[in-house]
Amino acid sequence: MAEKKPVTTNIEWLNRAYSAKGLTDLRSLYDEWAASYDTDLVQPNQDYVAPTLCAATVAKYLTPSQPLDKIKILDAGCGTGLVGGALAKLGAKHIDGIDLSPGMLKQAGNLRVYEKLDTCDLSKPLEVESDSVDVVTCIGTLTHAHVGPEVLSEFVRVTKKDGWIVATVLDDIWEPVGYRAEVDKLVREKKVELVSADSGDYRRGAGVSARMVVMKVIK
Ligand SMILES: C[S@@+](CC[C@H](N)C(=O)[O-])C[C@H]1O[C@@H](n2cnc3c(N)ncnc32)[C@H](O)[C@@H]1O
Repeated sequence: MAEKKPVTTNIEWLNRAYSAKGLTDLRSLYDEWAASYDTDLVQPNQDYVAPTLCAATVAKYLTPSQPLDKIKILDAGCGTGLVGGALAKLGAKHIDGIDLSPGMLKQAGNLRVYEKLDTCDLSKPLEVESDSVDVVTCIGTLTHAHVGPEVLSEFVRVTKKDGWIVATVLDDIWEPVGYRAEVDKLVREKKVELVSADSGDYRRGAGVSARMVVMKVIK
């Protein structure tokens, strides 16, 4: 859990998600929200652009030896599959998704862009082999009352050397909740290079911005 302080947004589902009392609460909330999640977040007062921006960021940083149609991508906290859908539009063919909520995963399955979908709890060690994926994406999930900074070392473990981690962290929790400190630690330990942590549009229609954190795994 990232932190417990209630946060107010312009969408009631997110208010509830950001003040979830634990994993069971969060899982039920997302199971309930799953059917209308995409429609709700596409509304002009949300304009949730982070998944599309994430896919463009992945495509931007891959090297010629990492063709998008050949590499393995792990979409952590994949939800209904907005990130997988955006990656597939750019040509990605090997995407696995993991998420806490079976309801969200069911929606993601309907998209038919993921090779494998599994439930998981990102606050525990991942059931993913070390050095097995080229890219980890984690969008909208390192957030209030969801998943804290400790998951980042697990992302490093499962990613191959020279692979990439692309994740959003809301501006208002980047430093206070310790994401920045964890990234700095991974940099000091020479496990990653921090390529970018620029702030940009997230839920653009609500005026909410987030860091798009891009780390190259060097371990
Ligand atoms: C705001 S949604 C983001 C989903 C998707 N990445 C997107 O950008 O639309 C947050 C997701 O994190 C998942 N989640 C929350 N806590 C989690 C945990 N501990 N382990 C795995 N997934 C979690 C929720 O089930 C939900 O699907």
